[in-house]
Formats: sequence, C-alpha cells, structure tokens
Amino acid sequence: MRLVLFGPPGAGKGTQAKLLAEHRNLLHLSTGDMLRAAVRNETPVGLEANGYMKEGELVPDDVVNRIVEEAIADLDHSGFILDGYPRTIEQAEFLLGRLELKGTPLDAVVSLQVPEEHIVQRLSRRRTDKETGEIYHLDFKPPPADIPQDRLQHRSDDQPEAIRNRLVEYHSKTKPLEDFFRSRARFIEVEGLGGLEEVREHIEEALSSLEATA
Ligand code: AP5
Repeated sequence: MRLVLFGPPGAGKGTQAKLLAEHRNLLHLSTGDMLRAAVRNETPVGLEANGYMKEGELVPDDVVNRIVEEAIADLDHSGFILDGYPRTIEQAEFLLGRLELKGTPLDAVVSLQVPEEHIVQRLSRRRTDKETGEIYHLDFKPPPADIPQDRLQHRSDDQPEAIRNRLVEYHSKTKPLEDFFRSRARFIEVEGLGGLEEVREHIEEALSSLEATA
C-alpha cells in the first residue's frame, strides 16, 4: 500500500506513521527525519535546509523533491507511508508524476484532523529520544523513567515562535493541497483526537474500507 499521511504540524503524523508501518510492514519515509539527519551530518542538503527549519519555514521544493526522489528511486518494497511530504502543490505534482512513471500510483492520502488549540499543546510538550527516534509527549505518552534526560530532545522548532511560523506555512502552502488531493487521489479524513491507539484504529478502519472497495 502506498500512502501519504497528511495534516498540520503536530497532528500525530510521525506517531501514527510509525505504528502503521510496523503493523502493515510499510516503509516509513519522513522528510522531516531525513532533513534533520542531513542537518546533523552537515551534508550540503542539511546546510541548505537548516536555516529554514529552525525558523519553522518550509525547505525549498527542489531540495525536498530531490531527497524524496532518491528515497523512492529503487524502492523494492511492498509499500510506503510518506509523512510530511508533499507539502506544496509543486511537491504533490512532482510526487504523482514520479509515481505514475513508475506505474505505482498512490492508494490514498490519509488526513489527520486535529484542531489548532491541541496542536500547540502537543508540540510544546513533545520530546524525542535522540537515539531511537521514539516520539513522546510529557503528558500523553511520557518517556520511560529510565531514559537519561539528556537523550530526550525538545526540537528547536517546537519553540513558540517557530510553531507559529509552521502554522502560518501550513495554512498558506500546505492546506490548499486538500482540494488538490480531493481531485487527484483518494482523500480520507480521519479523526486525529483521542488516544494514540484510538487514532490508529480510526486509520485502520478507513484503510480496511478502502481495501474492501478496491
Ligand atoms: P516535520 O518533522 O515533518 O514536522 P511537522 O510536519 O511540523 O510535523 P511534526 O513532526 O511536528 O508533527 P507530527 O504530525 O509528526 O506529530 P507527532 O507524531 O510528532 O518537519 C519539520 C520541518 O522540516 C518543517 O517545518 C520544514 O522546515 C521541513 N520539512 C519537512 N518536510 C518538508 C517538506 N515536504 N517540504 C518542505 N519542508 C519540509 O506528534 C506531536 C506530539 O503529539 C508528540 O509529542 C506526540 O507524542 C503527541 N501525540 C501524537 N498523537 C497524539 C494523540 N492522539 N493524543 C495526544 N498526543 C499525541
């Protein structure tokens, strides 16, 4: 199955993509994770992306399209979940074009619906284990007590100013993709509120009905 997980910053895309990937044996491709790795490793892409990411702005389309193209070029796998990509109409056109050329179209775009007041609360209390990449929330998914505190990262773009910028970017450049996807793919809206497991079940139900009608 080839899926895009879509939604505003902090909607739970990373959390749910990981659960789904494990459950359905799909490859989880997160452009945020790929870009953060490039920044850590100080690659040319990382050096170019760093300033945009710190400010909460989108990295230019050509940079992101390039890393996705590399990631999907020789994909010999039963399927994938794209998390955090595409985020602009240009990226979406690029992705659909590449998948069409490969003869492997998208099966669906799953859009997580989370109201804005929950987003700030989710992002400001998020912590990430820098060794395993596991995503925690200090209230809703607290890290185990035996993880050393210095392993738990508070992302630099989870500060209030960067969160505000990310939401502005989302509304101006990413949300308009909803109409694009409605006309070009199977666009499924899923309730993103509720416990982590509850949201996973909502997504699974939506995917099962999709499979039943395929
Ligand atoms: P990216 O890493 O993709 O950030 P994002 O889209 O802003 O999404 P987040 O990772 O912040 O949130 P999420 O939806 O994955 O939520 P999560 O599961 O962590 O991108 C970062 C930056 O990279 C961008 O700003 C941009 O600069 C650049 N970039 C990346 N892709 C790009 C692209 N395609 N084009 C251009 N630039 C790009 O959950 C959030 C918190 O909520 C966690 O603490 C979690 O534990 C908690 N949580 C999750 N589910 C629930 C629940 N059901 N109930 C309560 N809490 C929950």
